[in-house]
Amino acid sequence: QSFFKPIQGSFPPPPTSRNTKISVVGVGNVGMAIAQTILTQDLADEIALVDINADKLRGEMLDLQHAAAFLPRTKISASVDYSSTLGSDLVIVTAGARQIPGESRLNLMQRNLALFSKMIPPLAAGSPETILLIVSNPVDVLTYVAWKLSGFPSNRVIGSGTNLDSSRFRFLIADHLDLNAQDVQAYIVGEHGDSSVALWSSISVGGVPILSFLERQQIAYEKQTLEKIHKEVVQGAYEVISLKGYTSWAIGYSVASLARSILRDQRSIHPVSVLAKGFYGIDGGEPFLSLPAQLGRSGVLGVTNVHLTEEESQQLRESAKTILEVQSQLGV
Ligand code: NAI
Ligand code: LAC
Repeated sequence: QSFFKPIQGSFPPPPTSRNTKISVVGVGNVGMAIAQTILTQDLADEIALVDINADKLRGEMLDLQHAAAFLPRTKISASVDYSSTLGSDLVIVTAGARQIPGESRLNLMQRNLALFSKMIPPLAAGSPETILLIVSNPVDVLTYVAWKLSGFPSNRVIGSGTNLDSSRFRFLIADHLDLNAQDVQAYIVGEHGDSSVALWSSISVGGVPILSFLERQQIAYEKQTLEKIHKEVVQGAYEVISLKGYTSWAIGYSVASLARSILRDQRSIHPVSVLAKGFYGIDGGEPFLSLPAQLGRSGVLGVTNVHLTEEESQQLRESAKTILEVQSQLGV
């Protein structure tokens, strides 16, 4: 018996609209920050959570469900296997080991590679049309691994990459100049990690190229100041990890912004980890690393052709080399 009494008369059936389903694999600090940001931003009709820790998983599912009265209507399901993820539009992978204070992301490789070998094939088989968005670290190498293990075309395998580093960069520049970070156009590219590259030459604020702006305003700036800002970006995660043990809120917002651009076909440009072969003089091997990419409903639509100085190009190729060296030890 239905709760509502139907109204009288015959009506055409309602238009069928497809549900948008996002799976979040791994419900640790990062997975839950992503899930809750996606929920509050109303980006999905269904969120499926997966974790091997059954109690934590059910606890997190219930805790989110209990917020239903304050949120847009979203079905939240969970499973310790991959059954809840079937037919996902977007699968976000955050499961795996994280850094202890002072540890580099690349150091996590062996532990998380073993996990990916188990996780990616069933995830891909259960959602053959999905877009895989990898967050677990080292994110660039694991995005490559996910691409290989899924057999998906490269436009549907994306790493969250330096979308987060670029936000840290924009925050620091905005803070330095007392501006709104949303008005600062600035990219960090390359590895999400120690060899990342700051694209100083293309930074603009409100459409004004920043280096010439600073020169015109005669604001004292030196290469050292710029390098200090980039160093702070690289050190940012290490500092947060040494203080609170992990990073979560910024990656939650960063990944939600990617989910929005993909699922709502925003065609916005994000620095994310993509198959970089053939772009910006990167040749030899198949490295995944961050480049400014246009994202839409079919995943990566293209890579923007930003003008790089010779120094920036060189640093980007070095970053690709670092990633390729790690990839060459994988045996995937
Ligand atoms: P966490 O330890 O809080 O959570 C990891 C979760 O993965 C745990 O709940 C664990 O039970 C689960 N898990 C382990 N094996 C699994 C399996 N086979 N299937 C499903 N779930 C499994 O760690 P946290 O802080 O959430 O970090 C997760 C990952 O995200 C780490 O690799 C970390 O380095 C990375 N990360 C990446 C960022 C990025 O910008 N790409 C930013 C922050 C973290
Ligand atoms: C980050 C993680 C640790 O917050 O990769 O940058």
